[in-house]
This record gives sequence, structure tokens and C-alpha cells, in this order.
Amino acid sequence: MSDSIVPPHTRTIVELGMGDGRVLEALALKDPETVYIGIDIDRQQCEQAKSRIKLQNVFIVSGSFEDVVSKFPDESIDGFIAVLPDPAFIDEKKEQSWSPFYKTVHAKLKKPGALRLVTEITDDLLQPVSDGTFDLWSIWLVNVFRSLGFVVADMREGSPEEFSSRCLDQFRADTARIRLLTLDLAKA
Ligand SMILES: C[S@@+](CC[C@H](N)C(=O)[O-])C[C@H]1O[C@@H](n2cnc3c(N)ncnc32)[C@H](O)[C@@H]1O
Repeated sequence: MSDSIVPPHTRTIVELGMGDGRVLEALALKDPETVYIGIDIDRQQCEQAKSRIKLQNVFIVSGSFEDVVSKFPDESIDGFIAVLPDPAFIDEKKEQSWSPFYKTVHAKLKKPGALRLVTEITDDLLQPVSDGTFDLWSIWLVNVFRSLGFVVADMREGSPEEFSSRCLDQFRADTARIRLLTLDLAKA
């Protein structure tokens, strides 16, 4: 086989619910040897991202990430990113319905591999979120992901500085009422 037809890419990172795709685009631009796959169920956002992002190492897939991820071979993906997943995939009250999906994500990760999750807590009455509430929620989230087989490699309040998306930029403008948490969840 000729060297020229063998892709140079060595890693594969998948973004779940990539929205406008700005996070994916920024990461892919800085890291041309990694393949970035963005999945979103919103066809219009996918079309817009496809027409805007002209990088050879970016692939946009329009569809449900549950369907798409289930088709990846086990232990084939280096990293997943989920930035502000919809409540259906992170809300405390819906844990029973979403936790099997992250178990699948865990199965698809290579060893070592990791899921970076950026998520938020808000108060039902849109009051500021207290430190106590934030801490309890963070511990609950960590315990859920531990029970799915992940190891917490890092956790911190806020979101990665280099990440920017429409939703993130909005949420960052109200840090008292929308408290963000970033978890790096490894497959050991
Ligand atoms: C709150 S938005 C966050 C979007 C983006 N990550 C950001 O930071 O701006 C959640 C995204 O997940 C997508 N989404 C929700 N359920 C999905 C599913 N089952 N499969 C794929 N995408 C989904 C939505 O269309 C939406 O773009």
C-alpha cells in the first residue's frame, strides 16, 4: 500500500452534541494529526458546521449520538467530549435513562482514553447556586461515573478556557446562577 493513501491521523476524538461545532473546530485546527468527529441530532446545525469547517481532520455526523456511538467498535476511540449535554443526558432525575449510554461510551474508549464532560448546575428558581449545593452535586456526578467504570483524572469548577461555543459563552456570563463543572473521566 502506498504511504500517500494511508492517513497520517493517529487519534480519534468524538464530540457528543457538538452544537455549532466551534469547540471541535478549534481543537482540530490545533491538532491536525487527530481525527475529530462531531455528532449532533440537529440537522441544521450540522449543515452549518459542515459548510463552515473546511478541515480535513473533521467529520460531522448528523444523527443521534446513541445510534452513532453504538456502531463504533469497542476500544476504538481515544477521547469523547461532551460540552453542556442536554438534561436528558445528565439530569439527576433522569440518571436511570442516561447512564447506560455513558457505559457504552466507556466501552468504546481505548485504554487509556478519556471522556471530558463539561456540565452545569442551576437552581430551580434561578437563584445563585450555593457552594454546598454545588459540592453535593459534584460528588453525586463523580459517583455516578465511577459506578460506570470511569476514574476521575481531574475535576474543577468552570470550563476549559480554550473551549468556546454559543451555549458556553452564554453560561459563562452568569457564574453565580450557572455553575459549571469540568470532569476528566479516564478509562484506566
Ligand atoms: C445544550 S446543547 C450544547 C451544544 C454544544 N455542545 C455547545 O456547547 O454549544 C446540546 C446539543 O446536544 C444535541 N443533542 C441532544 N440530544 C442529542 C442526541 N441524542 N444525539 C445527538 N445530539 C444531541 C442538541 O441538538 C444540541 O446541539
